[in-house]
Amino acid sequence: MYNDIIMEHFRHPKNQGVIKDADAVGEAGNPQCGDVMKLYLKIKKVGKKEIIDKIKFETLGCAVAIANTSVLTEMVKGKTLNEALRVNRVAMIKALGGDVPPAKQHCSLLAEEALKVAIKNYRNRSGRAMSCPTAKRPRKNK
Ligand code: FES
Repeated sequence: MYNDIIMEHFRHPKNQGVIKDADAVGEAGNPQCGDVMKLYLKIKKVGKKEIIDKIKFETLGCAVAIANTSVLTEMVKGKTLNEALRVNRVAMIKALGGDVPPAKQHCSLLAEEALKVAIKNYRNRSGRAMSCPTAKRPRKNK
């Protein structure tokens, strides 16, 4: 059903887990399917630049949502916050081989949204306690 890149990220997700002392957390959920993801960022300051030093995620959702979040973490690790904000759904789908089925393309939006929320929370300096208002409580993987 899915290509090898998606299946590899789904079966062996990169950067899955929690950063307990994260500098920012972003959460996003899709109320229609109930999937939810949470991103944890550790940010390092190098001069005036703020760089994503570590990133981890928890995704409770479909295979494409997990693959998307996994590939997102690989794409933004080591990037500045502004560079990371330019990694969008289209770039993630391309990194996953470009053939995410149309019915599953919304799954990429969750990862993009969770990252934006995390960075916004970091910039607001209230990151750890804030989450996406549309997010639901995590549930078990499908
Ligand atoms: S089906 Fe909901 S995120 Fe994939």
